[in-house]
Amino acid sequence: MDIKKEVGEAIKKALEELGFSKFKIDFSLEQPENLAYGDYATNVAMVAFKRFRPKTDRSLDEKVKNPLDLARKIIEKLNKQLSAFSIIAKVEAVPPGFINFYLSQDYLFTTILRSIVVKEKFGGSQMGKGKTVVIDYSSPNIAKPFGIGHLRSTIIGQALCNIYSFLGYRVIGDNHLGDWGTQFGALLCQIKLKIKSEKLKVEDLTINDLERLYVEFHQEVEKNPDLEVEARKWFKRLEDGDEEAERIWQIMVDISMKEFKRIYGLLGVSFDVVLGESFYVDKMAGVIADAQDKGIIKESRGAKVINIPGVETPAMLVKSDGATTYFLRDLAAIKYREKKWRPLLMIYEVGADQIFHFHQLFAVARMLGYLSEGKLIHVAHGMVRGLGGKLSTRLGKTIHLEAVLAEAIGRAEELAKKAGVSKNLSLRERKKVAKIVGIGAVKYSDLKQNPKTDVIFDWDKILTLEGNAGPYLQYTYARCKSVLSKKENLFLSTRDDVMKIILPKYQPNFDELAIARIICHFEEVVKEAAKSFSPNLIANFLYDLSQKYNNFYNQHRILGEGGKKEQLRLLLTLAVAQTLKNGLNLLGIDVLEKM
Ligand code: ARG
Repeated sequence: MDIKKEVGEAIKKALEELGFSKFKIDFSLEQPENLAYGDYATNVAMVAFKRFRPKTDRSLDEKVKNPLDLARKIIEKLNKQLSAFSIIAKVEAVPPGFINFYLSQDYLFTTILRSIVVKEKFGGSQMGKGKTVVIDYSSPNIAKPFGIGHLRSTIIGQALCNIYSFLGYRVIGDNHLGDWGTQFGALLCQIKLKIKSEKLKVEDLTINDLERLYVEFHQEVEKNPDLEVEARKWFKRLEDGDEEAERIWQIMVDISMKEFKRIYGLLGVSFDVVLGESFYVDKMAGVIADAQDKGIIKESRGAKVINIPGVETPAMLVKSDGATTYFLRDLAAIKYREKKWRPLLMIYEVGADQIFHFHQLFAVARMLGYLSEGKLIHVAHGMVRGLGGKLSTRLGKTIHLEAVLAEAIGRAEELAKKAGVSKNLSLRERKKVAKIVGIGAVKYSDLKQNPKTDVIFDWDKILTLEGNAGPYLQYTYARCKSVLSKKENLFLSTRDDVMKIILPKYQPNFDELAIARIICHFEEVVKEAAKSFSPNLIANFLYDLSQKYNNFYNQHRILGEGGKKEQLRLLLTLAVAQTLKNGLNLLGIDVLEKM
């Protein structure tokens, strides 16, 4: 049940009844940070009051002198509607004119019970049934080690896949590998040179060799510009299907994929399809033909471009030397995806440095009639800042992700030692914990922030058991599990148990209710995160829940209370654990039963 939507509708209806239909009232309906202001609060009366002119509108009597009066009027209307709606227990007006809604205890505990009955499905829904989304994420360029530059795309993209699947959508996660383009001309050229001069064997190349060769090529071009021409020739040969070029290119692909698979395994990331740029090689001519049919392609000195109304720089499909472009392959991918999957949305989880590329791309895709408006989304994430020092290599200054992850795992081990956790675990278990905590911490530190902002990579804030950090949330989960493990068979599983046995005899206190009141927002937060492409909403929700639970844990006894009180507290603990687990899993973060 979508409470926010229901309440929103009720408010709109109340406004209509009060004669506001002709105005557009742009109000908010939010979850207040402070639970003292209810479970939802709206500013509708304040917004509407500005529109309200007693002289011209006689439907409201003269007694409405301020927003608070209007809030009371709205509530009168709301009460009539909401009485049929047992979810809201109370609606009140508070100065200067806010309206606060309180969820009923019955609804709170029905939700808590649902969380323990549906378990891993709690928070999900079937709203996306029958709809497809394509998510383009990770998409690194091959022939070099996986760099930190693709970390954000990889983990935000994976989180978006998880979130949309959880909401019932069919998700196609696509790794649009950068495995084609002029850089392969440069690599082929350099490899061929070195085969001669260094007796290099293509079969023995490593990913680091490939990275080095590419850097060296550019150093040598400085001295010998003719190499550039040579490289272009090699890319041309590759595009024309030259056997030798293809053979060496395939070796580069294989070396890279072996590396990338290791990283994806470490990160627990997977794709439904891996259709790199090379997949579209035979589909580019079709796009050019479409553009010719539409009469929008322009030839200038061998290059093929499309002028986009309102955009100064034309989009380049084919360069003057005949080489096809990244842009053209992206157009081919849009056409292919649309035809193959008919998605509701095509989401690109790619850095903000490509905003202009996608701006042009989406415009041209529409000019070609490939897609309807609003289907294409670029979730343009900010940069990772603050990493450097010993992690940056001298070569090309890229920071290799594997080194970062190794350091995270090492630091997780240190943290456990310092904090005195994991003491009772075997060495093997400790290693496993360090891996899950270290990787989880790196993911969380990214996902807790809005994708659009830059993130500062600060080890001290990433690997800590305090504050808004992955290990803190994992620790809270393990704490819940530890509490629950001391109580063998948990009793209450039916609605009747709670509704008829516990609640009538035991009035939950404010702190107990507070936990239930937060958990009630989980489903809504997941939807909001999908709608706004912001996994950070889930992360911050989980942080809030953890804080509230830990406060509760520190202030109240759970075990040993006995009776209904103990049972209720255990029930809440179970619900917190389930919610944390589901939420962290959506973020691609594993939980630990013991830490
Ligand atoms: N390979 C590109 C890069 O590393 C990212 C590709 C993103 N996806 C796309 N469809 N353009 O910059």
